[in-house]
Amino acid sequence: MPAWRDGNREDPKPCREQDRGKFEIVNRDGRARIGRLHTEHGILETPALLPVINPNIRTIEPREMWDRYGIGALITNSYIIWKHEELKSTAQNEGVHALLDYPGVVMTDSGTFQSYVYGDVEVGVEEIVEFQRSIGVDIATMLDVFSRPDMDYTEVENCVEQTIERAQISIDASQDTMLNGPIQGGVFRELRKKSATEMGKYDFSVHPIGGIVPVMEQHRYKDYAKIMLSSLPNLPPNRPVHMFGCGHPMLFPMSIALGADLFDSAAYALFARDGRLMTPWGTEKISGLVDWPVITPSIANLTPKEVLEMDEKARTVILSKYNLEVSLAELSRCKQAVRDGTIWRLVERRSHQHPALREAFLWLVTNPSNSKISNLSINQMVLDEKLASQETGSESGVWEGSWDWIVNSQTTPRKGGEPWGGNDTNARPHIIAARNFLFSRWHAKADAGKGSSEVLILHGRSGPWRERCDNLLTRLIHHAPGLEVMILTPIGLMPYSLEDVNPFTHIDGPDWLWRSRPNLQLIRDELENFSLGDRKIITLDLRDDNLVIRAFSKLIEHGVLDEESRDGLVDGKNFENSQLKLRRRKSADKFAVFFNIQSELSHELNVQTEFVINRQGRIKNVLTSSGKHLASFRLGDGGLSLNNDGAIELHSHRRRGIPKGFMESEIFGYTGEGLAWVVVDEDAEPFIRQGRNVFHGFVISCDPWIRPDEACLIVNSKGELLGHGISQCTSEELATFNKGIAVKTRDGIKLED
Ligand code: GUN
Repeated sequence: MPAWRDGNREDPKPCREQDRGKFEIVNRDGRARIGRLHTEHGILETPALLPVINPNIRTIEPREMWDRYGIGALITNSYIIWKHEELKSTAQNEGVHALLDYPGVVMTDSGTFQSYVYGDVEVGVEEIVEFQRSIGVDIATMLDVFSRPDMDYTEVENCVEQTIERAQISIDASQDTMLNGPIQGGVFRELRKKSATEMGKYDFSVHPIGGIVPVMEQHRYKDYAKIMLSSLPNLPPNRPVHMFGCGHPMLFPMSIALGADLFDSAAYALFARDGRLMTPWGTEKISGLVDWPVITPSIANLTPKEVLEMDEKARTVILSKYNLEVSLAELSRCKQAVRDGTIWRLVERRSHQHPALREAFLWLVTNPSNSKISNLSINQMVLDEKLASQETGSESGVWEGSWDWIVNSQTTPRKGGEPWGGNDTNARPHIIAARNFLFSRWHAKADAGKGSSEVLILHGRSGPWRERCDNLLTRLIHHAPGLEVMILTPIGLMPYSLEDVNPFTHIDGPDWLWRSRPNLQLIRDELENFSLGDRKIITLDLRDDNLVIRAFSKLIEHGVLDEESRDGLVDGKNFENSQLKLRRRKSADKFAVFFNIQSELSHELNVQTEFVINRQGRIKNVLTSSGKHLASFRLGDGGLSLNNDGAIELHSHRRRGIPKGFMESEIFGYTGEGLAWVVVDEDAEPFIRQGRNVFHGFVISCDPWIRPDEACLIVNSKGELLGHGISQCTSEELATFNKGIAVKTRDGIKLED
């Protein structure tokens, strides 16, 4: 037995018959996802890198890929096999897995790339798909028409249309073999969109993004990002997306964050042939190196010089392994980052490592529909990029919606501190999502009285603020009930009532981030977002030791209060009253922001609420006056968790009808009203009532504003409440997925409840 079989990895088990071809998401971070693709040759975990195997030149044996590198899928070229008599007959007699000596998932390409390189191919559209099916591939590819980035609009349109015309014939020819439906469209946004929309209507299993090899070869990563943003939001989300010919690890983090699931790499071997080493930050030449850029198992006890002195074949093999190991390591980093919710931070870090990646990153975070970056730190980067795009006349305004597609699927709030990363911090999609929620769901309170023309801006110190400021706020509620109080954070303004909400509450960074002088013009702009733009700004530096005295003096100075209230005194009974009001305000604002309920309703619900307070004096549970437990404050991230009584209460306030479809609103990112409803079919009803999760396939309809990681109500088709839980997906995902968990049920409503 050859040495490389030492790994002795077992052959894969075929997936269950009924699951074949299905794709499910098991973890996500925004649009980045950890998925499972079910095939006859095992369940492929994604994101995955499919090494390209040239059946004529097997630089690394496929069996070694399986055994030693744990690679679950590879890609080879059916056109090369079809053209080569001996390969063809072995493949037809013994199957492609035997030809390659590989037990995992085999994807094949169709010859399109050869037609791009050599001008034409001799094989027919149906013929090549039938051939792939006949040799037992797991995922075949139709013969699409390659669109180059240097083609003009009409030429590319032709490629897109011809590819669409070939779709149905290819699907018919594939029968029950899974089929790749590539997306073409060159660098034209409209054509990418058309290609994705039209190809998505056919029954393909996977959608590769085609025509990007020359874009990557020319380091046009900004175009690469644009291609992704114009294609992916228009594809059915339940199909994995494959970046055709993308195998450079430096592109993995950005691609995965934008929704890519599969990659293929010929580069690991091609680069090795001419002594090029891949790294997550670019490519380096081995000649002249004394030390390795990255140490990997295959070169750990060799120096670059020793490798250079090897004969060409041995050198190519060892450098191919090196490149593969580096690529797999970066992929593994990305996957863990998705699980940890830090994929965008990885994108951000990697963007600093190559100028073209940086350019792509800046385009992404400043593209015209992304207007909600914190003004408080509107920075040179944004200005530079805006100027640059004006100079080149690039399409401003046409990317509407594409960035929202990323932002609207972010998890917020999250646990843990938000590591400050300079100006880029403000462009993180989950921070933008968190800000959008405040802007759209939080509203100034209706109370009249002193202070209703002013807003007090607390600044100068990081959180938590409650220990230092709750006492002051309690006094202010008594003396100036109309006053709104906001906290100035490095990522924008936040209402005081939400002071423990992540990410605003905990930015890990240098102290001076908090100490900078408040810029009144920028604060005013920011207040516009909260519809408080017409209020007079009063600032209060929290580093002042006599906070109460200082605050009251300022309010007197600004004519909000008169001299008698200078010491801010509040007697015992009134103090308790104000304290309860502050708690109710905190609770009402959390209901509004986290349960998406109208501000009036959330205040109405909270008029009578009582609270269970923990030992640190923080609110733990929110109860009705009759003791029903509506919700609990989450101490880890500042969020709010719903309880059964809360679900019943919120369900009873629903005024709109039962959702009939999945996307009833045409407006992308529609914010809706109240907790989204998920309607399940009657088979699921008893399970949900027992608290079991909602699975894809049992959902009949939902509100269009449902979002991953947000609370939702589970109802039957009569609109009766069955339970509540945390959605795992968006409405487009609910509409298309047929495997995996749709809603993690927190609790079911038993019939006797
Ligand atoms: N390999 C790299 N790019 C492409 C493409 O656009 N289509 C196909 N079929 N294969 C590719």
